[in-house]
Formats: sequence, C-alpha cells, structure tokens
Amino acid sequence: MARVNENFLKLPGSYLFSTIGKKVKEYQKANPDKKVIRLGIGDVTLPLPEAVVKALHTAADEMAVKETFRGYAPDLGYEFLRSAVVEHDFKSRGVELSIDEVFISDGAKSDSANIQEIFAADSRIAVCDPVYPVYVDSNVMAGRTGSYDAKTGRFSNVIYMPCTAENNFVPELPGETPDIIYLCFPNNPTGAALKKDELQKWVDYANEKKAVIIFDAAYEAYITQSDVPHSIYECEGAKTCAVELRSFSKNAGFTGTRLAYTVVPKELTVDGVALGALWARRHGTKFNGAPYMIQRAGEAVYSEEGKKQVAEMVGYYMRNAKVILDGLKTAGYTVSGGVDSPYIWLKTPNGMGSWEFFDYLLENADVVGTPGAGFGPSGEGYFRLTAFGSYENTLEAVLRIKKLGS
Ligand code: MLT
Repeated sequence: MARVNENFLKLPGSYLFSTIGKKVKEYQKANPDKKVIRLGIGDVTLPLPEAVVKALHTAADEMAVKETFRGYAPDLGYEFLRSAVVEHDFKSRGVELSIDEVFISDGAKSDSANIQEIFAADSRIAVCDPVYPVYVDSNVMAGRTGSYDAKTGRFSNVIYMPCTAENNFVPELPGETPDIIYLCFPNNPTGAALKKDELQKWVDYANEKKAVIIFDAAYEAYITQSDVPHSIYECEGAKTCAVELRSFSKNAGFTGTRLAYTVVPKELTVDGVALGALWARRHGTKFNGAPYMIQRAGEAVYSEEGKKQVAEMVGYYMRNAKVILDGLKTAGYTVSGGVDSPYIWLKTPNGMGSWEFFDYLLENADVVGTPGAGFGPSGEGYFRLTAFGSYENTLEAVLRIKKLGS
C-alpha cells in the first residue's frame, strides 16, 4: 500500500509566493480596471542582456547542425562555463578555486533545497528568522525539523536566529549548536549585508563547531559597500566549512532562463568524506545538466559586453531601490536594506500585521509587496518591497504609498 511522505503534511499553508500570486490574481479578477503594480516576488523585469541573447542565438544555431549539435550536457557543467566562473567570480577577488569545485545547475532555488540531502537525516539546522522559506521547507520535507507549532510559527527542531531591528537584522551566533547553518547575505528578505569581519565570525564559529555553512550569495551583484564580501571564501578558513550558492537570476535576469552554480571546496569534508563527492554523486543521479544553450548564455555574462550590460541592469534596479528607500523615508516609514540589496524592508505602519498591510496596500494603492511574516515569525510587522520592477512602476508605486500617509 502506498503511503505519503507525512513530512509534507507538516508544511503550513502553501509556498509563500504561490499564496501571494493567488491573492493578487483574485484581486485583479475582481478589479479588472485597476493597474496593479507588483513589487512582491523578486522577479526581474528587464530583458536579458544583449550579449546573452546573442550567445543564445549562436548556440541555438549550433544545435541545428549535426556537427555542432549537443545532447546531454555534462552533469556537473561544461568546462567553458566552470572556467569562466572560477576566473571572473573568484580569481578576480583573490579566491583560488579549481573548476571541479564548481557545480553548474538550473537554479539556486533548487540547489538551496537539494543541498540538505547530502547531510545526515538527524542534522540540526539553524536559520535566520525571517528567512527565505525554501531552506526550512526543504528540511521539513526531509523530516529534519520536528513538529510545527502554529502559535509560534516555529518547528521544534530548528534553531531560529532572530534578525530584528535591535541587531540591525544581523543574526547572533546561536546558543545551541547547529550542524548546518543557512546564511543568505546580502539578505533575502531584509536586504541587510554582512561586513567581512562579521562573516569571519561565522566562519570561525562553524570551523570550531564542525558545522557547515550554506552561504547563499544570490544577491552579491548588488553589493555597493567595499567592506562587504561578495563570497564567503574571502574569509579565512571558509573552504573547510562553507558551501556557496550563486545564481544568474538576479544579476543577469535568468529567472526564466534558469542557471546557477554551487561551490563545494575540496577541503570541505565531514567525517572524512568530501562533500563535493557526495554533491557530484547527487548531480549524476538526479540531474542531466543545465542545457548547452543556457550555459553558453551564462558564459556570455562574463564577456566584456556582458559584464557591462549586467552592471547597467544592476544599476537600473538599484536606482529603483533608492527611489523606494528615499520615498518611504520621506513618507515617515522606517526602512532598511536597499543599499547592498534589491530588497527594501519596512516596518508596517500603525502596528499593522504584515498580512493586514499586504491587504491594505493592495486594496488602497494597488501595490503588491511581500508580508514579512511569510518569511518567519520575526518578520511579523515588516514588509518587503522589491526593486526589480520597472522604473516607471516603482515611481508610481512610491507615489501611491506616499498618498496613503504612514
Ligand atoms: C524572492 O522573491 O524571495 C525570490 O524571488 C525567490 C526566489 O529567488 O526564488
């Protein structure tokens, strides 16, 4: 008799962005004449950079010719892309990696959900609170998180590290010792960044406790401050305790194109086992490689034109971030983030709950954001806006919010 994985039944509600999508669809259906501005999910709106599109066309033509056609991609990624990653994302920052420490995939969301599979079933995870929901949900599905308490919004076997205004949204080292620590910096959802000395503390802590850090650096392209590291490997000793996740989604607009990679250094071993070997084994069994055309598109991100065009895109979104940050401050909101990140984190006005503010903003300003409570209990009373909209829509949204007062 078939039985379901009961761990799935422990998941409260549906995935955050599915819930929001459904609500907005219903609202738009009931109000077809309203122009809804979506600053909720962190999905990009600018088209792919020209250099990337050119590479896609060229690769598509290659696929049409017998001599250059490609079937299955190597499951860990084509060498041309892995070398470009090593050269441009790391060597240029003083970090030496070899290409077999880079594992190409079809997205950082799936990598961040899948990475837990290579750890023991009874590992204890620590997460920031608020947190990108995938880290927790994927561990719930794996049966690692204990039971859910609807009152506190917490799982019994997860170590939550509150990121609040009191600690500037930077987590403190946990009291209890975790086996796996998820860190996302620049942070989703709060937009906070970690300075190098702050990240170094985590690296030292993980090495001391023999814990592994899963460092999600999907937003590194948005860093503007010079003392904020782009990679955890800029910290001393990180290669023995950290895996790093990177994405082409937010910098180069690949949210619909799908491309990412994970770095697992050779020095990273647990119980004498190289984690890279396990991750490679997992890839080999469950993944047939990111498509050739997409990897060629990824390679183009590192070309001279590609780099320039990506920098322009990031600049465009960061101008939006400034519009939101400055506009809401002027309107009397308490806001943070938006300096090293495309996310702006604001305190909901007049003690409104996060979901209450979501409805209020949708119904009164036709603006969609993301309720902080959707990212965890410490996000209650907060709200996230993304800078990934168009400039015109961002200006309009801020204007509408300002009209509401705070
Ligand atoms: C977000 O809005 O938090 C992100 O778009 C989610 C993601 O990257 O999967």
